Amino acid sequence: MIGIGIEQYGGEQQIKEINIPTEQVGPEEILVSIKASGVNPVDWKVRKGLLKEDFPYELPLILGWDAAGTIIATGENVKKFQAGDDVFFRPEMEKQGTYADEIVVPARLVAPMPQGLTYVEAASLPLVGLTVWQALVEVGNIQAGDNVLILAGSGGIGSIAIQLAKARGAYVTTTTSSKNYDFVRDLGVDQVIAYDLGSIAETKKFDFMLDTLGGSAYGDALKLMKQNSKVATIISERDAIKPDYAKKKEENLQLKVEFVFTRPDGENMGHIRELVEAQKLKPVVTEVYPLTVDGVKKAHKSSQTGRTRGKIVLSRETKSN
Ligand SMILES: NC(=O)c1ccc[n+]([C@@H]2O[C@H](COP(=O)([O-])OP(=O)(O)OC[C@H]3O[C@@H](n4cnc5c(N)ncnc54)[C@H](OP(=O)(O)O)[C@@H]3O)[C@@H](O)[C@H]2O)c1
Repeated sequence: MIGIGIEQYGGEQQIKEINIPTEQVGPEEILVSIKASGVNPVDWKVRKGLLKEDFPYELPLILGWDAAGTIIATGENVKKFQAGDDVFFRPEMEKQGTYADEIVVPARLVAPMPQGLTYVEAASLPLVGLTVWQALVEVGNIQAGDNVLILAGSGGIGSIAIQLAKARGAYVTTTTSSKNYDFVRDLGVDQVIAYDLGSIAETKKFDFMLDTLGGSAYGDALKLMKQNSKVATIISERDAIKPDYAKKKEENLQLKVEFVFTRPDGENMGHIRELVEAQKLKPVVTEVYPLTVDGVKKAHKSSQTGRTRGKIVLSRETKSN
């Protein structure tokens, strides 16, 4: 496989073309020609070596774990898919990534691409879609009428979380800066807390929070939670230290706090596809770069600002598909 990645951990200057042999396609696996790859903060965190302990990669490493493309070949036991099918998926993070021309993945991790989406749109969904499904549905078990708080509704995770929570009938509030007010409103959110317009206003207390920020942003939001309510957090202590007052508040409110680390899962990908096809969930792509060394550098620079709206995607096609 020819891709974009690193031979050693470090800054953007380490991003280069990587050429490594493509794995053999096992009986339960498929070989996919990648058309587009989503970009997520984890990509540059891996590049910098921040996840070395959790994922002791052998370098060189192709980055990116989010893709859409077309199946080239299938293993002998794969019955659900055939060559020529368009699929979208998040592969196993322990292995080589998706900033590449092709990849071998277990068939159980992929789902058919939603009808009507471009490869770029489809590649924006797997990692954030799975994270949000696992946080809101599996951990939160969000139901119609629940009062739900999503931190950072304008980001890659938040923009999908708002839509999924609305699709399940929740009353949804999000935090963002005032410049993104219209952006999150367009995603269907019911109430916006603009963090740059003073401290959090009085609001009805929440049954569930999705924490995408950690640190003091998370600590401050805890005062808005009901007694015995639930929190799904996707931020580890490696990303942001939880302040002591937040730990005390969690105890006083007897919150059920669960950490979610995205699990690749073809069945969950199928739920995302159904929501898209039912027009309850739409991809939110705001930046597209070519899948080249220069394109990856630009994408990482943008993601590292922490100000991205929706998703950044790398495309292998020069014209829209
Ligand atoms: N555990 C897991 O499996 C998992 C999975 C996916 C992501 N993550 C992590 O989750 C985090 C979020 O991911 P992402 O893809 O959503 O990131 P992202 O797209 O880069 O998020 C950027 C957004 O965050 C908003 N933001 C920043 N500070 C804020 C604040 N104090 N209050 C409200 N909004 C704020 C920004 O809006 P403004 O410009 O308006 O501030 C911007 O729109 C990252 O750290 C990522 O690594 C973890």
